[in-house]
Amino acid sequence: MIGKLRSAPVSVEKGVRKSRTLWVALVVGVGLVTAACAKHAPQTTLKPEGPVGRKIDGLFQLTFWIAVGVFVLVEFGVVYLVWHYRHRDDRPEPVQVHGNTRLEITWAVVPALLLLVVAVPTFRTIFQLAREPKDPIRVTVTGHQFWWQYDYTDLGVTAANEVHLPTGRDVEFTLKSDDVIHSFWIPRLSGKHDVEPGRVSRISMKADKPGVYLGQCAEFCGLSHANMRLRAFAQTPEDFDKWVAAQKAVPPTPATGSTAATGLTLFTTKGCSGCHTVEGVSTGKVGPNLSHVYSRSAFAGDTFDMTPDNLRMWLHDPPKVKPGSKMPNLGLSSAEITNLVAYLQTLK
Ligand code: CUA
Repeated sequence: MIGKLRSAPVSVEKGVRKSRTLWVALVVGVGLVTAACAKHAPQTTLKPEGPVGRKIDGLFQLTFWIAVGVFVLVEFGVVYLVWHYRHRDDRPEPVQVHGNTRLEITWAVVPALLLLVVAVPTFRTIFQLAREPKDPIRVTVTGHQFWWQYDYTDLGVTAANEVHLPTGRDVEFTLKSDDVIHSFWIPRLSGKHDVEPGRVSRISMKADKPGVYLGQCAEFCGLSHANMRLRAFAQTPEDFDKWVAAQKAVPPTPATGSTAATGLTLFTTKGCSGCHTVEGVSTGKVGPNLSHVYSRSAFAGDTFDMTPDNLRMWLHDPPKVKPGSKMPNLGLSSAEITNLVAYLQTLK
């Protein structure tokens, strides 16, 4: 009966369509698999750094390998059964079986046990990560479209996009958002955490050794979501203290008559000061604090390397190079941009 049904005629067109679908699936599959390969993968969670990252990775490894075991057993079973009991013309219809209490109990109990094996360390990790760290550095993170603000509440430092952490010490981030939902994520140091307007949440992490760890806003937040990156610099406590001292210093006033001095005048007259704070010059709070902007390695949501050329390109037309940027095109002339860039370069 089954044999008769199967031999129903299949149109040639259907066959061609089927093989084309298979080919497309194969190409897409291979493409997806190879897309996951990268020589430099600075945002991989598989190379955790620090106790929090390692704890999360440990839990992932346990779950992953249990899942691999289940997958292999099930797939092996399926392939074996399909092959072993495939239809052959000389084979009689097999004995029909309905129900097998022993098997049914087994395949209910074994997964339940596996889930229990995963659940215990999962709950333990959740509670461990929720514990408040002892004597942490406290940083309030505010998500903006499309950049990160960091306020070191106990140290009196405000930074943007690049966050500095002393090695060997817990850092407690208090997360909030100014506009829409963002997600704060430094994959090698910790899990991701949503940053929601009207809600304050916490996440802590610790870096063992100095290094640069890249991060990314991980919740779609608008046109430049992909341009909302971040960089965490883990430094030795001495280097961190130096950084703090440099960030707290009031930036120098440019020498009278210099290009930078003209830039400073433009900064206060062209509207920049309304949105940006420069210690001793302005108190704008809309955009990043620029008091030490040139000490950063990148700008505009950590998108562009901090170079005079990139600053020029940026000032020429911000929304053009970073779609959705709240910083408008100020219609600056080339000479004005030169002066402003000279001024920004003094803000180290
Ligand atoms: Cu902020 Cu995506």
